[in-house]
Amino acid sequence: MEREIVGIPCVGGKSKLAPFLRELFFDVAITHKLDKFLSACGGGGKCVFNLKASANVFKRGVIYNEFERGLYNLITSLKSYRNIEIINSEIKKLLKNHFADANTPDEVKNAILSMFREALSKADKPELDTLTSAIYETVVVFGSVQNNRQTCSPNIGGKENGFYTYFSKLQYENTLRELTRRIRDMASFETLNDDCVDLVNEHKKDANLLIYIDPPYFNCVNNYKNAFGFDKHMDLCKACMNADAKIIISMHDAGLAPYLLKLFVEDDWYAYILPPIIHASRKSETTEDAVMEIYKLKDLKTSQELMHPEEAEDLEKFKKSVSQIVEEGLLDDKSIDEIIFCNFEIPDYQERGIKNLEYSVEDDLEMIFGKMVYIMYREKMPKKAKIHDKDGNPCIDIEICKEIVKDIDEYYDIDIFEKDLEGETLLKSAEAVAKVVFDFDTRIRNRDSVRKITKGAKKKD
Ligand SMILES: C[S@@+](CC[C@H](N)C(=O)[O-])C[C@H]1O[C@@H](n2cnc3c(N)ncnc32)[C@H](O)[C@@H]1O
Repeated sequence: MEREIVGIPCVGGKSKLAPFLRELFFDVAITHKLDKFLSACGGGGKCVFNLKASANVFKRGVIYNEFERGLYNLITSLKSYRNIEIINSEIKKLLKNHFADANTPDEVKNAILSMFREALSKADKPELDTLTSAIYETVVVFGSVQNNRQTCSPNIGGKENGFYTYFSKLQYENTLRELTRRIRDMASFETLNDDCVDLVNEHKKDANLLIYIDPPYFNCVNNYKNAFGFDKHMDLCKACMNADAKIIISMHDAGLAPYLLKLFVEDDWYAYILPPIIHASRKSETTEDAVMEIYKLKDLKTSQELMHPEEAEDLEKFKKSVSQIVEEGLLDDKSIDEIIFCNFEIPDYQERGIKNLEYSVEDDLEMIFGKMVYIMYREKMPKKAKIHDKDGNPCIDIEICKEIVKDIDEYYDIDIFEKDLEGETLLKSAEAVAKVVFDFDTRIRNRDSVRKITKGAKKKD
């Protein structure tokens, strides 16, 4: 099978894991006689197939879906080389409009900001035609630091990715050509602009379909334009339950709680830890929220063996920055495991270098539950609100805890709270939730094991 790099840069993109994942999908399709592939949260499209090699397997086709209109329109447009010229000439016009009177460094900075903001405000507008939206999206994707389409700080004068490289220096023309080649190599895939939950519901009875879902990660910095919070992750889990289609979902260890509870525990799914890759947040020279992908030092060898040679070369480049991060002591804090959940077993997982994520459900249910409660609390809190006061005592909003109790009661049929969630009972349950949140946060702050929590929220006998 061909293993060329496909797709466009995208925050949360699976460029490092893509060769591994695509090979896995391919094998799963052959083993289970699946003849159609759907990438439900397509992003930059790195996990959409190079159909030159897979046409014999995915005979009914390959679908790329992306909810963000701008990104969907850009991918759709780049399927045709003819659109490159149009995109280029329109971007030149935009540059002319915004930079005409920009001479001093400050004027240039303002020109960058105004062009960027115009693009950001327009790219997803439903009334725009595909190509016009793709033009603005090109500015957003390549003009933002680390291709972060949500925070979208334009990279003023930076060395990588930003305006300076792609627009001021007019390098985007070659970039677009290269990307178009990558996307064309994905072959004649269909593009959709739907919500992944709707799509799963629509297609889940198709027993010969392989669905890959790489949703925005739960419980981490939100780098996407549209919200994908707790409720949405739960809706996704519910949609995936009892599916006839084969489904694989990507998540990482900080966000797996709802998936473990809903799919792993309730619907007998399997979970595996992928070969090690770390996304480490660290301050870069140009931006505070830059996200850098690096490989775990100790597992470099295993990883390297699994990589496409071209990507293995990148690995070398990363080593230097990895050493630096280790020296700065940032690694422990930032290392994460990439998990996949599937509604089928991968029998040869060890040979693939993946680990079985083993949970003793009885013991760990509380840990999972605690983690989920903690995450829900953090999600509902106003940004940067604290769980401890300055003396280290709990300062947890009991009204938020009540909301969480009600949410949990609505979602789960597990016997954690009294059924009649009114008055005193609700207050007691909310207090129990507050204790879980506080305990969990304290453990995280103390860098104690986050795997175990106290029995705070367990139903009283
Ligand atoms: C982690 S990224 C996927 C990256 C992709 N695997 C790649 O390699 O480029 C998640 C994507 O899901 C998209 N998304 C967000 N909400 C969605 C929804 N409700 N339905 C489908 N996609 C959604 C985001 O815009 C983002 O592009």
